[in-house]
Amino acid sequence: MLIAVGLMGCGGPAPTPGVSGARVYAESCSVCHGADGEGTADAVPPLARHLPRLAQDPDGRAYLVRVLLWGVVGPVDVEGQAYDGVMAPFDHRSDAELAAVLNHVLTAWGNDRRLAAGHRPVTAAEVAVARREPLSGRQMRERRPRGPAERGAD
Ligand code: HEC
Repeated sequence: MLIAVGLMGCGGPAPTPGVSGARVYAESCSVCHGADGEGTADAVPPLARHLPRLAQDPDGRAYLVRVLLWGVVGPVDVEGQAYDGVMAPFDHRSDAELAAVLNHVLTAWGNDRRLAAGHRPVTAAEVAVARREPLSGRQMRERRPRGPAERGAD
């Protein structure tokens, strides 16, 4: 599974060598969030444009790492649109795979241009720390940052 190194060689130095975030995205995420990160109307929130905003919240980075591990359940407001769905946990994926896919969605579709100056790529070590504290999707909903994530484009 992990031998697909070098197929997608462009895009600068990877913080998780040997793992392609784009590949993990295509395998596990695009069915819902779409190849273009635009989500599915009324059912699945977009990741394009939205994630850099979420990442800028003081609690956003911790939330993003954990939402990939443990999912999230319950009503969320994304860029002014309400969703009430289920994001499944992906804790069966390795730390390196989750870091890679998170770095992919934070930088794909022009999101890289919206990240705060000084944004650092997510590391597998950050995922490993978060993995030590299993959370339910409901607990993740309670931890979801308010503010920039829900305010939408001002
Ligand atoms: C089965 C469909 C499905 C798949 C597969 C899926 N997601 Fe999600 N995702 C959702 C839904 C639905 C939500 C919103 C959950 C809610 O309403 O509480 C969500 C929420 C999110 C959020 C949080 C957004 C926010 O503002 O809180 C992120 C980040 C995310 N998904 C990334 C991913 C990534 C990366 C993958 C692949 C590893 C993935 N998702 C796979 C359906 C999916």
